[in-house]
Amino acid sequence: MKKKFKAFVTYQNQNGDFENKISQKSISDLPEGDLLIKVEYSSLNYKDALSSSGAKGVTKFYPHTPGIDAAGIIIKSSNNHFNTNDRVIVTGFDLGMNTSGGFAEYIQVPSSWAVKCPDSLSTKDSMMLGTAGLTAGLCIEEIESHIAINNFRAVVSGSTGGVGSIAVKLLSLIGAKVTAITGKKNSDQYLYDLGSSEIIQREEFLDSTRLPLSKGVYNAAVDAVGGNILSSILANMQYNGIITACGNVAGANFSTTVFPFILRKNHLIGIDSATCPIPIREKIWNKFSTSWKLKNLDHICKVIDLSCLDKEIKKILDGEQVGRIIVRL
Ligand SMILES: NC(=O)c1ccc[n+]([C@@H]2O[C@H](COP(=O)([O-])OP(=O)(O)OC[C@H]3O[C@@H](n4cnc5c(N)ncnc54)[C@H](OP(=O)(O)O)[C@@H]3O)[C@@H](O)[C@H]2O)c1
Repeated sequence: MKKKFKAFVTYQNQNGDFENKISQKSISDLPEGDLLIKVEYSSLNYKDALSSSGAKGVTKFYPHTPGIDAAGIIIKSSNNHFNTNDRVIVTGFDLGMNTSGGFAEYIQVPSSWAVKCPDSLSTKDSMMLGTAGLTAGLCIEEIESHIAINNFRAVVSGSTGGVGSIAVKLLSLIGAKVTAITGKKNSDQYLYDLGSSEIIQREEFLDSTRLPLSKGVYNAAVDAVGGNILSSILANMQYNGIITACGNVAGANFSTTVFPFILRKNHLIGIDSATCPIPIREKIWNKFSTSWKLKNLDHICKVIDLSCLDKEIKKILDGEQVGRIIVRL
């Protein structure tokens, strides 16, 4: 084990501004935890961009190493369920929030946060999915348990982003006809390659929706965006539709009435991947390694090292990120 290791660290300077640097850290700098893990891959999620730019309500204390995702090999374990050399996935809980995160060569965490990496997934595969994949998987798990028809219509917002891209791929794998909502003008080919059947520009979707009830079109929705897009999705659902709400890049508030619920029996389901219980995570990761195994995931992923993270963080904050950014440690 190295005495010193590389970590991406966010510092707050004397003017109160936040800046990121690659620094040297020691194992003794890490918080307590019964698993010491050599991180092989991490991935970039929206929350990391918030943490590394000092957004309010995310990370309280700086200097801090973000990274809500990590997959790697156990170097030291004092828990009977995990052994040295086991391959594990750690996502969410407090990792990368106020606990030193996955943008570093080592993490030390409680074993209650770890899931064994399924045999047929590499640690890289697991981070191509990461929190974005787990979240999309939790949405589709809810949809699958609700939908009783085969050829259903689904709509995905923020469709070129991390959660959105994997949601489109997974919905198309399970046989849905997927409409992708996007704010990007030049991403049609990308979205068709993921499995979308139809693409709607964000503004067109908003303009063509009559609130609070429009024509009922979709049976299922994955909303990674919130705000006025969620209001419009709710208006466009068919009778007995299911809407899984997981994001808020367009805003935390949305407006609706009781009508989508009392006239169309719609179901609005909240999704949380960060504190989701371990048995549910294990179920989702196992599905990703079997019936939900996604082909060509690498086509939507860019692999970078710590030195390129700053540039990708800016893109995600500007709403310009496409697909997934994987960090190789
Ligand atoms: N609930 C959970 O457990 C959970 C887990 C993971 C993520 N999330 C949340 O899900 C959201 C997406 O996360 P992510 O990691 O997928 O982020 P991401 O990769 O940055 O994707 C977000 C996408 O949303 C669209 N978008 C960006 N700004 C927008 C705006 N102002 N209005 C409407 N659409 C906008 C863009 O796609 P288009 O250009 O294609 O529209 C963008 O690529 C975030 O709010 C994140 O916090 C929640």
